[in-house]
Amino acid sequence: MLEVKSLTKSFSSGADSRRTILDELNLKVEAGERIAIVGPSGSGKTTLLNMLGALDRPDHGDVLLDGDSVFSKDDRQLAHFRNQSIGFVFQMHHLLPQLNLFENILLPVLAQQAEVDSSTRGRALELTRKLGIDHLLKQKPGQLSGGECQRTAVARALINQPKIVLADEPTGALDQASSNQLADLLLQLNQEEQTCLIVVTHSMELASKMDKIYRLENGKLKQLQTLSNNLKLS
Ligand SMILES: Nc1ncnc2c1ncn2[C@@H]1O[C@H](COP(=O)(O)OP(=O)(O)OP(=O)(O)O)[C@@H](O)[C@H]1O
Ligand SMILES: [Mg+2]
Repeated sequence: MLEVKSLTKSFSSGADSRRTILDELNLKVEAGERIAIVGPSGSGKTTLLNMLGALDRPDHGDVLLDGDSVFSKDDRQLAHFRNQSIGFVFQMHHLLPQLNLFENILLPVLAQQAEVDSSTRGRALELTRKLGIDHLLKQKPGQLSGGECQRTAVARALINQPKIVLADEPTGALDQASSNQLADLLLQLNQEEQTCLIVVTHSMELASKMDKIYRLENGKLKQLQTLSNNLKLS
């Protein structure tokens, strides 16, 4: 359902030189599939997620979602696509400090329409219940723990029922226990909603919970053998 074809991105690195960060990169992710992307700092993981989430355009190559070309869209269409089809969870949650938890979750809806209908409010409430933050709806981010903020960010990423959820070091700022809990919630919600889940992480513990692990190296993705792969093969 998600297909990345020959994706290439370079950045200028001085007067007249450029560094190629993503080099003719290919990837296929099926609906409901969970993948991890690992790789050294600076290898281009965030650059890749930004392309998959249509936050930035490649030099060339394309991303197809259900056969539909993402980068043939103009900027306005791209913004709409991003709002409707992609959910982002960042390392730092990027919640708005002046809004309470419930309002932060509804923000992607309010970006597209003036009013929130009752079914959307119901969905937001259900997500907060599943994430165990339904007793904190009126709290502002400054009154929440790091883990609670991250769970709010997960609800915000899922509110528009995106087909793809992109998470960049979602547990990077959390302690071990909160980090495990958040990873399990992400996986549980991904199964219930049948989204593609693409997680960038430095944690092999988190990566090994996914169906596949890819390593980004020299601008390309290489699939690593995992225990579950080996079991499937044997
Ligand atoms: N807008 C930009 N302009 C110039 N160079 C950039 C830009 N964005 C990223 N880079 C460079 O591209 C390379 C890849 O950056 P990226 O943020 O994708 O790495 P990463 O794999 O996410 O690293 P980390 O694990 O540290 O988050 C880095 O060398 C970075 O300096
Ligand atoms: Mg990064």
